[in-house]
Amino acid sequence: MCGIIGYVGNENATPILLDGLRRLEYRGYDSAGVAVFENDDVKIQRTEGKLSNLELALAESPIKGSFGIGHTRWATHGHPTETNAHPHRSGDIIVVHNGIIENYLELKDLLAADGQVFTSETDTEVICHLIDYHYQLNGKDTLNAIRESITKLKGSFAIVIMNAKERNRLYVAKRGSPLVVGETKDARFVASDIPALLPYTKDMLFLEDGDHAVLSSEGIELFDENGANIEREFQHVPWSPLMAEKGGYKHFMLKEIFEQPKIMQDIFTGRVSGARSTIVLDELKGLFDGNKARFDRISIVACGTSLHAAMIGKHMIESLARVPVSVDYASEFRYREPILDERTLVIPISQSGETADTLAAEKLAKERNCPVMAVCNVVGSSITRIADATLYIYAGPEIGVASTKAFTAQLVVLYIFALYLADKLNKIENDILKERVAELLTLPRLLKQALSLADDVMRIAKDISDASNILYIGRRLNFPVALEGALKLKEISYLHAEGFAAGELKHGPIALIEQGTPVVAVVPQDGTYDKILSNIEEVKARGAYTIAIASDQDESISSKVDEVIAVPKTSKYLTPIVAAIPMQLLAYYVADHKGTDVDQPRNLAKSVTVE
Ligand code: F6R
Repeated sequence: MCGIIGYVGNENATPILLDGLRRLEYRGYDSAGVAVFENDDVKIQRTEGKLSNLELALAESPIKGSFGIGHTRWATHGHPTETNAHPHRSGDIIVVHNGIIENYLELKDLLAADGQVFTSETDTEVICHLIDYHYQLNGKDTLNAIRESITKLKGSFAIVIMNAKERNRLYVAKRGSPLVVGETKDARFVASDIPALLPYTKDMLFLEDGDHAVLSSEGIELFDENGANIEREFQHVPWSPLMAEKGGYKHFMLKEIFEQPKIMQDIFTGRVSGARSTIVLDELKGLFDGNKARFDRISIVACGTSLHAAMIGKHMIESLARVPVSVDYASEFRYREPILDERTLVIPISQSGETADTLAAEKLAKERNCPVMAVCNVVGSSITRIADATLYIYAGPEIGVASTKAFTAQLVVLYIFALYLADKLNKIENDILKERVAELLTLPRLLKQALSLADDVMRIAKDISDASNILYIGRRLNFPVALEGALKLKEISYLHAEGFAAGELKHGPIALIEQGTPVVAVVPQDGTYDKILSNIEEVKARGAYTIAIASDQDESISSKVDEVIAVPKTSKYLTPIVAAIPMQLLAYYVADHKGTDVDQPRNLAKSVTVE
């Protein structure tokens, strides 16, 4: 969601702020702005739409100064207009904000009654006026005005504040929304996400809820929620700025799809040994007493693509380790009174580690004394800080809004976890484990083979890109792959698509089939092969245009469907990972053919930090 960047140093702040905002563009936004201190005052420039509009405006009326703040806004309260764009100003107080202030109307009424005049529809402007109000009241002490104000805010926020009367000084505070701080010899930085700081430093300080800080030419002063001076450790982020660039690909999404074979090695290193046929997950020591698990059942919570990975993970864990697993939409979890106790391992799965609903579900689990094991990509993110243990998916920065490499990385990590658990609990024989490990290590090759089908998939994508409705079907582990294929397509191409468990079609959805409706089916040569072929016959009989993602050893499939995408044959556990590749490519090429904004699709944000 909203992107935040702040800089205090010796350089001209404006290009640094713009570069930071560019690196945060992937989070999704619809307006942008900067505030920079120039000639004894703070100048603000804001524009609707993409960053290029802001760059143009700043080229026409440059602002030059050595400290400032920048923001990309994803509209929540009020339209994406220039007046609603951040930064907001009240008196000398200038604020950018990410999050949602739930009691903003109440506060706005109080402040308006006191004579404060509001110019926007946003909740953020309330923060600005509230700080200004306390600032005037307390004899112009900015830090205390911020402290008093944040105690009155309900909801979530990451805020960066400037005072037009104070040079080379930024104030930051957070509750619920992420903020990360970094420094070099001459400069201090703050941002809502890691990529904005990568060109300057890889050592970052992740603020905790309640933390607030002063960033100035002298350094970083950090305080906890009680106002006590504290120190927190900086964490090393093993990403390079290059990893967060397109590297010659037309879109980040395409680059990330093609990175998938390569990231497998990062996931395996130190965990999967081919030579010894073992799986080692030292990160999980705390969840076991020797070989005994500290849990009897598992509850996975996640949203969107991560939820689809969770659904496949459930199959893997239950089938291999025989531990019961439930899967919940994180957004529903808290509201359904889940049965949780200290023997329920709760697994929040999140690429960003900042998804508000997943974080809230995780906090509920902690309140109920459940052990928590996060599956996450972003080192130091909120979800990892709360968890008792984290299985990192090591996918590298994922910039395209549509999640691709994080999905397959989540699946691989969940599979490794399932094998590890099965081994610990004595639910898998050594020979079988050996076979599974050996097969797992072939995954980079299998994914490369699947990627080599890109041209075929592109041709099929062009053929179906005029459809108004596309259905995806699969069974067992491949039913969530169908859901994921449909999600990918709708989010970036804006075509209507739905995924179904193939056996469910005749209970309703088959009514959607018209002459030519594309139906994409995952058809592995496993125990469900005949069943899914019958489902394909049923839709064909009603005029569907059928596309099978099938095994390359299936010689008869081409006579049964209109198009075949032949992926390498593998076990039932790896098939969803391999089948995900053509699903991603299909969505990508349809969207590219239609000319949509693939990396930043409309209305979407990369990291959903509000409920
Ligand atoms: C879809 C997509 C979203 C995310 C969801 C959860 O391509 O990216 O559905 O999967 O918002 O995000 P994380 O995994 O960061 O919690």
